[in-house]
Amino acid sequence: MNVAIITGASSGMGAEFARQLDNSLHKTDEIWLLARRREPMEELARSLRHKTQIIAMDVTLDSAVKQFAEILAISNPKITVLVNCAGMGKHGSFTQQSDKAVSDMMQLNIVALTRMTKLCLPYMRKGSKIIQLASGAAFVPQAAFAVYAASKAYVYSLSRALNKELAGRGIRVMAVCPGPVNTPFLSRAYEDESAIGGLKKMAMLEAETVVAKAVMDCRKGRSVSVCGLPMKALYLATQGVQNLLYKFT
Ligand SMILES: NC(=O)c1ccc[n+]([C@@H]2O[C@H](COP(=O)([O-])OP(=O)(O)OC[C@H]3O[C@@H](n4cnc5c(N)ncnc54)[C@H](OP(=O)(O)O)[C@@H]3O)[C@@H](O)[C@H]2O)c1
Repeated sequence: MNVAIITGASSGMGAEFARQLDNSLHKTDEIWLLARRREPMEELARSLRHKTQIIAMDVTLDSAVKQFAEILAISNPKITVLVNCAGMGKHGSFTQQSDKAVSDMMQLNIVALTRMTKLCLPYMRKGSKIIQLASGAAFVPQAAFAVYAASKAYVYSLSRALNKELAGRGIRVMAVCPGPVNTPFLSRAYEDESAIGGLKKMAMLEAETVVAKAVMDCRKGRSVSVCGLPMKALYLATQGVQNLLYKFT
């Protein structure tokens, strides 16, 4: 059985990946939707043509990850696509952020994403794809978003390294690096939404646009997906030398 797995599927870009992959995956039997909230995933599943499995779980909990590992072992699927969208950010100065906020960001954006990737890899074959939601925040350290931006730099670096490591198995890994996207992420990240800067508001894209570009870039075998002129300019300005070295390492 061929399956596509999407984490963070109850909202924003995860839900949008489910909708767009539903239209474009022809050799995939089921789409598995993962997030904590079951109801929005049930509603989403009703709109999809593919058979779906809804796995309501907190990907940061050891017990839930263990249960997911058992589901994989019992179903023994071939994972055609893994999209790691579950992620969160908390805006605010490092010294004033609660220990919990800092730990939650690291546990979800770094640890859970890494564990999900490692857990799914044995079920992937030649042609399988991994799409990791990094961020444009991966390109430049961000004051007042320090831990979030650092966590996304980790996702970006991990994804590109794995893309090289797994090339021999025919598995592609792509980091998606959007600027601000119009999803519930931002209202969760900012206690006071008026603190969202004018530049960020101007560069804001819709989830549909970012995901369509990511799906197309993934099909083309790209290792990074960057959408919109401001983010492309930032990407080229900051990653030029790294890209050159990346080709030869
Ligand atoms: N929106 C932006 O401006 C932006 C820009 C660049 C990158 N990104 C990245 O893109 C990804 C998707 O973000 P989004 O904008 O689509 O945000 P979103 O609408 O807030 O979606 C986040 C998703 O993560 C899930 N999630 C959160 N904590 C979880 C947990 N402990 N276990 C399982 N699932 C969990 C949420 O579902 P439940 O609450 O139901 O668990 C939700 O489905 C994130 O990694 C984010 O960092 C976002």
